[in-house]
Amino acid sequence: MLRLEQVSMSVNDSNGGNKDILHNIDLDFTSGKLYAITGPNGGGKTSLAKVIMGIYDLSAGQIFLHDEEISHLTVSERAHKGIAYAFQQPPRFKGLTVSDLLKIAYGDIDIMGLRKSLRDVGLCPEDYLDRDVGPGLSGGEMKRIEIAQVLARQATISIFDEPEAGVDLWTIQRLIGIIVNRFKDNPNCTAIIITHNENVLPICDEIIVLEEGRIRDRGTYQEIWPSIREDIECKRRLECRGEFGYEI
Ligand SMILES: Nc1ncnc2c1ncn2[C@@H]1O[C@H](COP(=O)(O)OP(=O)(O)O)[C@@H](O)[C@H]1O
Ligand SMILES: [Mg+2]
Repeated sequence: MLRLEQVSMSVNDSNGGNKDILHNIDLDFTSGKLYAITGPNGGGKTSLAKVIMGIYDLSAGQIFLHDEEISHLTVSERAHKGIAYAFQQPPRFKGLTVSDLLKIAYGDIDIMGLRKSLRDVGLCPEDYLDRDVGPGLSGGEMKRIEIAQVLARQATISIFDEPEAGVDLWTIQRLIGIIVNRFKDNPNCTAIIITHNENVLPICDEIIVLEEGRIRDRGTYQEIWPSIREDIECKRRLECRGEFGYEI
């Protein structure tokens, strides 16, 4: 369904040169499967998602969706082709309401579906559709609105970038149920979840470990867990102590 061939991405560094972020990534994602992308901070997970969505240009390689090359399409063209991305840190837009934002971002959004999705992530639509997407919303609320709009899109490829960050345990458990119901064994779509969450990783069919812009490992949860367990448990301990994580 979605295929990346030898994808590389670089950014301008402060010395006027180029810094390579992703190196020759080969990946394929099949419909009906749930994928997790994990790995250390700064490993390139968000960059990879943004390259797939067209937010970052690739410096080499090709991306195919259903065998059609999409590497040169814009973000909105890719959105129309059925790719949706929930940002790790959703942008705020002071002066716009939640429903304005969603209409601009996704003109074709199904408002009933959006209401349902807001309820699915634990937000009452009546309380949120007219709220300003500015500093008045907490990081956790922004995150849930972001996840809800991707769920409402019913896209072919849905990418969630650290959905657990800033979201309480109850919501993440509920979200796991929704993701499993929606995506597991659904031949029409694929979900890619960038995550470190110990509850999310086991529900995924395949785990991809990205480190220093390269794929370090790829396999089932049973195959991959022994090699990532220590990092993930350490991250959780730091989160519990408030030394690491997303600012709510
Ligand atoms: N727009 C950008 N400009 C400069 N550096 C960037 C940019 N986007 C990402 N990077 C760098 O790329 C690396 C990978 O970042 P990122 O993709 O956010 O990793 P992850 O999501 O795995 O934590 C980091 O070193 C980050 O600083
Ligand atoms: Mg990231």
